[in-house]
Order: sequence, then C-alpha cells, then structure tokens
Amino acid sequence: MSAADSRVALISGASRGLGLAIAELLLADGWSVAALSRSRPETLDAMQDRWPGNVHWVKADVAQDDMRAQVRAVTDRFGRLDVLVNNAGVLHQELFLTTSERRIDELFATNLVGPTRLAQACARRMSRGGGGSILNVSSINSIRGFRGVTPYSAAKAGLDGLTRSAARELGPLGIRVNSIVPGYFESSMTAQVTDENRTRITHRTPLGRLGTTEEVAEIAAFLVSDRAAFITGQTITVDGGLTC
Ligand SMILES: NC(=O)c1ccc[n+]([C@@H]2O[C@H](COP(=O)([O-])OP(=O)(O)OC[C@H]3O[C@@H](n4cnc5c(N)ncnc54)[C@H](OP(=O)(O)O)[C@@H]3O)[C@@H](O)[C@H]2O)c1
Repeated sequence: MSAADSRVALISGASRGLGLAIAELLLADGWSVAALSRSRPETLDAMQDRWPGNVHWVKADVAQDDMRAQVRAVTDRFGRLDVLVNNAGVLHQELFLTTSERRIDELFATNLVGPTRLAQACARRMSRGGGGSILNVSSINSIRGFRGVTPYSAAKAGLDGLTRSAARELGPLGIRVNSIVPGYFESSMTAQVTDENRTRITHRTPLGRLGTTEEVAEIAAFLVSDRAAFITGQTITVDGGLTC
C-alpha cells in the first residue's frame, strides 16, 4: 500500500518501549505513523528507510505543548487521522506522604491532563473525517492498589474514566475509545524495578514472568483495527493474570 493510501495513527510516546513496538507493528501492516515524543526515536532513521514516506516524528511534550497544533501538524503531513494511541506516560515511585506537590502535578500533567487534551484534539479531527479509534494506555495500577504509585494510579484511573464517558459521547460520531490495561512488561520504565520487587511480581503472576512490549502491542494493534469494530468503552487487561 502506498503512503498516500494508508491509514494514519498518531502514537504518543513512540520513541521507545511499548509505543515504539506498536508503531513498528502498524507500519509493518501498511499504516503511516506519526510518532510523538520529546526525544528523537532511536530507530527513526531505520524506520524511515524501511517504510519511506510512512513515518513522521512529532517533537512535543504532552505535559506542556498545545496538542491541537501537534494534531494539525500530523494532518498537514498525512492528510488524515484514523487512530490515536495515547501511550506516553511517566512513572515515579515514591511513598504518597513524601511526594512533592510539583511531582504530583507532573504525574497528572503527563499521564492524564496532556492525554485528555490530545484525545480531544484527535476526536475533533476524527469527527470531521468520519470516525476513528482512540486507545488509551492505562495500567493495572488503575484497577488495583499498589504502594508507592498513588498519583500515577489516580491519573491512570482517570484515563479509564475518560475512556468510558468519551466512548458514550463519541460512539455516535463513529469514534471508538478503549483502554488497554497492561501489567508489568519489560521497558525502560520497569528497568527501575528492584530485583526484590521483580521477584515478587513474578511470583504473583500466574504466567510467572513479566510481559514483553510485543505481547502488549499485539493487543493494542487489534483494538485500534477494524477487527475490533464493535468494541468501545472497554478496559482490556493484558497482565499474565496478575489481577485475576
Ligand atoms: N512498563 C510497564 O510495565 C507498564 C505497565 C503498565 C502501563 N504502562 C504504561 O505504558 C505506557 C508506555 O510505557 P513504557 O514502559 O513503554 O515506557 P517507556 O519505555 O518509559 O516509554 C515512555 C514513552 O513516553 C514518552 N514520554 C514520556 N513523557 C512524555 C512527555 N511528557 N511528552 C511526550 N512523550 C513522553 C517517552 O518519550 P520521551 O522521553 O522521548 O519523551 C517514551 O517514548 C505508559 O503510559 C506507561 O504508563 C507501562
């Protein structure tokens, strides 16, 4: 499929980890991808060589920048927008009683406020283009309590609330909205997990290991595709059974 005919996904946090894995899967499937992040994706040149014309990097900070301008930049480049994968996120582990107000603001800005603005900017564009699909990347911290991640958990739970209500409002416009709720998977985010906690997580997970970015990306790619055309407003857990 030529770049001009392909469907277009905007993926936030596509410079590494899960976002990058989703970008590579969609590109291999013939999509065009706008990869949004603060730093240049490590594999940008290789991706542009492999899929010429289908890859565009959007340099932006979801916590600070005007998301409407970023979405305009994507549609100026590709002429359409079919999918948002609202994946950018940050985790900071610290006990609630000692977390600074500045840190709380940063966690909410990156994990909830920015993604809400990005979802709105994309939904407005999708409503003019006849529909689309939004996938919010949440976390099992939104559905189970864990020590040391209180503001992060609250922000991710907020994202799931956005999913359900936006699905009600946007369904009649042909826009589906879902959340994927990953358990622990290997990435730079979980590189911070101590060996002791890693052992604890592994023991509590029925499948006995952390997931991989590819395993979570497969479900994300399914949820944004037409194969999931009748799924909206849902939170789909991919956690090796940790929360069952
Ligand atoms: N890893 C896990 O076990 C796990 C479990 C459950 C949920 N999740 C969620 O899954 C998503 C991806 O996590 P990951 O493990 O792949 O993380 P990661 O490897 O740390 O990647 C995070 C991505 O988000 C981008 N990002 C962070 N802050 C940003 C900002 N302010 N503006 C724009 N981009 C920003 C980063 O790019 P730059 O730094 O270049 O901006 C990077 O591309 C996150 O939402 C995370 O909360 C992860």
